[in-house]
Amino acid sequence: MRVFVAGASGAIGSRLVPQLIEQGHEVIGTFRSPGNGERVRALGAQPIALDLLDAHAVREAVLKAEPEAIIHQATALADVRFGRSLDRSFGPTNRLRTEGTDALLAAAREAGVLRFVAQSFASYRYAREGGPVKIENDPLDPAPPAMARETNAAMRHLDEAVTNAGGIALRYGGFYGASHDGLVRPVRRRQFPIIGDGDGISSFIHLEDAAAATVLALGHEGAGLYNIVDDEPAPMREWLPALATALGAQPPRHVPVWLARLIAGKGMVMMAVGSRGASNAKAKRELGWTLRYPSWRQGFAAAYAPVSQGVNR
Ligand SMILES: NC(=O)c1ccc[n+]([C@@H]2O[C@H](COP(=O)([O-])OP(=O)(O)OC[C@H]3O[C@@H](n4cnc5c(N)ncnc54)[C@H](OP(=O)(O)O)[C@@H]3O)[C@@H](O)[C@H]2O)c1
Repeated sequence: MRVFVAGASGAIGSRLVPQLIEQGHEVIGTFRSPGNGERVRALGAQPIALDLLDAHAVREAVLKAEPEAIIHQATALADVRFGRSLDRSFGPTNRLRTEGTDALLAAAREAGVLRFVAQSFASYRYAREGGPVKIENDPLDPAPPAMARETNAAMRHLDEAVTNAGGIALRYGGFYGASHDGLVRPVRRRQFPIIGDGDGISSFIHLEDAAAATVLALGHEGAGLYNIVDDEPAPMREWLPALATALGAQPPRHVPVWLARLIAGKGMVMMAVGSRGASNAKAKRELGWTLRYPSWRQGFAAAYAPVSQGVNR
């Protein structure tokens, strides 16, 4: 297929493009930052500079590229400092998930694109009640903390807009697998503590496994939501010390909930206490997906061995 990848220069895009090419697809890959065009070309795709928030430019680029499929992987989280307000940190990404998705879907309709796959997110979104691990049909959190409402609404918009248009929204777990992953620096500096008893569950996914699931979704008929997460949703008190060990860092500190709420805000506390994980059973069953890193236990060790040894990748 001729595939248009929005965000080909990013963390997942740069893993996805080579896998698509290996499967025989032809790829047109977009980038935003000047200088990333060469990176996209080196991955084997035809590079196009594109701002997804410019709907006119999106229409032009898609009509000109004449793709049979579009994959939306554009986000704006690299180098973002996560403060008390998730909505502030995610603001530009939220626009990419709402306005960007709408612009791509409109262009896809006009260009007669057959398949549409987009990046959504699984962790910290499901209702914080009942069992610890949620499937795609389980209810989303009806009352996220105030500072995460826009972020949750943007993800919900993407899920609904994409599936209503006949596409697939992939609710990925927390990405890891690159030396500059968002958690690397704070965990190495012991700035990411276990909050309370750390019972909040997270779901993770290695970038290579996320890319493999995306290639399979492209070949799948019909609309749908899929959790793209590993086999082991786990509480913070388990995964965080393992991550610190994989990074060669000191063990994480512990802070009580009241203090974390004061310093880091309710959003961070919600992720650390009470959040639910996600099940990958549907993606395995319907997409025929198998994981190279079924658990973050092997994945963190494999991803960060070079980092913990001080090797720059
Ligand atoms: N994905 C998540 O939900 C999430 C959540 C929390 C933390 N993180 C962390 O964030 C880091 C990765 O950041 P990321 O997920 O945003 O990926 P990324 O690696 O920055 O990739 C984002 C892609 O979107 C493109 N892009 C950015 N703004 C755009 C715009 N206005 N129009 C079109 N394309 C645009 C980027 O282009 P250029 O690169 O060319 O600018 C890039 O290709 C990792 O450390 C990850 O651990 C991610």
